[in-house]
Amino acid sequence: MMSYLPPSDPPHSKEDHHKVYVPSEQDHHKVYSSLPHGSLPAAQPDLRPRGHHGSTLRAPTARTALMGSFLFLLASLLSALSLRFSHEPPVAQALEDGVAKLPVLGYNTWNAYHCDINETVVLQAAKLMVSLGLADVGYTHVNIDDCYAEKNRSASGDIVANAERFPSGMNNLTDQIHSMGLKAGIYSDSGWFTCQLYPGSFQNEARDAKLFQDWGFDYLKFDNCAVPYDDIIREGIVGKYQRMANAIADLAKSSGKPPLIFSLCEWGEEQPWLWARRFGQSWRTTGDISPDWGSVASIINQNSFIAWASDFYGHNDMDILEVGNGDLSFDETKTHFTAWALMKSPLLIGTDLSTISDANLAILKNEEILAISQDPVVGTSVTPFRWGINPDWVSNSTHPAQYWSGESQNGTVFMLINTLDEPADMFFNLTESPWIRAGRQYSVRDLWTHTDNGTAVRNFTAAAVPAHGVVALLLKDAGDEPPNSGPPCARPEWCISQNGTLAPGA
Ligand code: GAL
Repeated sequence: MMSYLPPSDPPHSKEDHHKVYVPSEQDHHKVYSSLPHGSLPAAQPDLRPRGHHGSTLRAPTARTALMGSFLFLLASLLSALSLRFSHEPPVAQALEDGVAKLPVLGYNTWNAYHCDINETVVLQAAKLMVSLGLADVGYTHVNIDDCYAEKNRSASGDIVANAERFPSGMNNLTDQIHSMGLKAGIYSDSGWFTCQLYPGSFQNEARDAKLFQDWGFDYLKFDNCAVPYDDIIREGIVGKYQRMANAIADLAKSSGKPPLIFSLCEWGEEQPWLWARRFGQSWRTTGDISPDWGSVASIINQNSFIAWASDFYGHNDMDILEVGNGDLSFDETKTHFTAWALMKSPLLIGTDLSTISDANLAILKNEEILAISQDPVVGTSVTPFRWGINPDWVSNSTHPAQYWSGESQNGTVFMLINTLDEPADMFFNLTESPWIRAGRQYSVRDLWTHTDNGTAVRNFTAAAVPAHGVVALLLKDAGDEPPNSGPPCARPEWCISQNGTLAPGA
């Protein structure tokens, strides 16, 4: 029997996501260092428990009291039975409020432009999403990140769109985005300020949610900078994010409009995969991504231990894509995109689309990969079945788990990652994956070459996978395996005949 080591703490790369963004020599972003003097009206949000409606109570008669006790007993019995037999995992239930069942696909301004944004940049991204055919394959959101606002709220307490960068106003912008058949996203922060020290939403949650909806936005990314003092907030991370979640739900109820999609961004520091699905549809799991293989590999490593947390209406967010940025090679870019898609992360393009190469565009538009991300029947992520270079469950940001599989509506998905710096053959036995049936053979579809690669019996070898490259396969059941395909059990441990004779190797 194989023994499993418990997951060790992933090495935590403390990115400076909680610091003000300091630009590099090459980009000409401004450095913001002084605190704004915004008016911050201290309107207290309604923190009453939700979902309870007032009702008029009458004194019960003896008969209704008896009936009440009976119903109470019945309810207790049923709930005890359902606890005993329920197969629900002991995790927070998803907020199924009708939006973002599947990972959100779209664009975000941060990785390409940081603070150098304006309405032209945003509209250009939207137009290119359409003209490059990205909208056609499902990228429908255009999301504005930090730095769109004035430093101060208005006299009446509202966030104000920056007059120089967004002179036509946010309604005009979202109207144009919507007229292209796309949706629009905006950004704020759960603290006093955003990470670039623009107004945050703390104590203004209801007001800001309403403003974002009035501006025409469909989606809100919510950051974790500028945390209020403990003696003011008297909440942990869960309570801090619940404030905006409540505001969004209240607004949906009062306005009759769909709730804003809520994308939590607290960098995975307080295990959001355990609680954030109560409040929103995605949660960042790591610090900020950078456009290099080390960052991509380390994010895959950290997410390999929590891939189970993604499902419909709630997704691990592995951060904005770096496809087209920095010094990622073609194969590294393919691996990056494949892992994000098959692990059901939101896929937000983060590059300047006016200069994107055909090769990178083709990666983003791989419809066979996108079909797994957007599978309407199976919402779960691929998960590792063998770590490979490391013993199972060992955290290693340079050599994350290599052998992954998962369910999909059309068959079993396999993802193989060569984390080595040179090409390697990658071999696996089919039944190492829990989703494969013993004694069956499988047709093999390659989701990158778009070819059918014969039938796999018992095992599969991907030959010469490039350095930092990926193989993505869809295996479909193709009936019973041919007779005499190998030992009586592909998995030899405890293999035994009906009369009790152990098979060779058992
Ligand atoms: C970080 C966040 C980035 C970006 C940035 C804006 O906290 O992780 O994705 O939103 O703030 O200042």
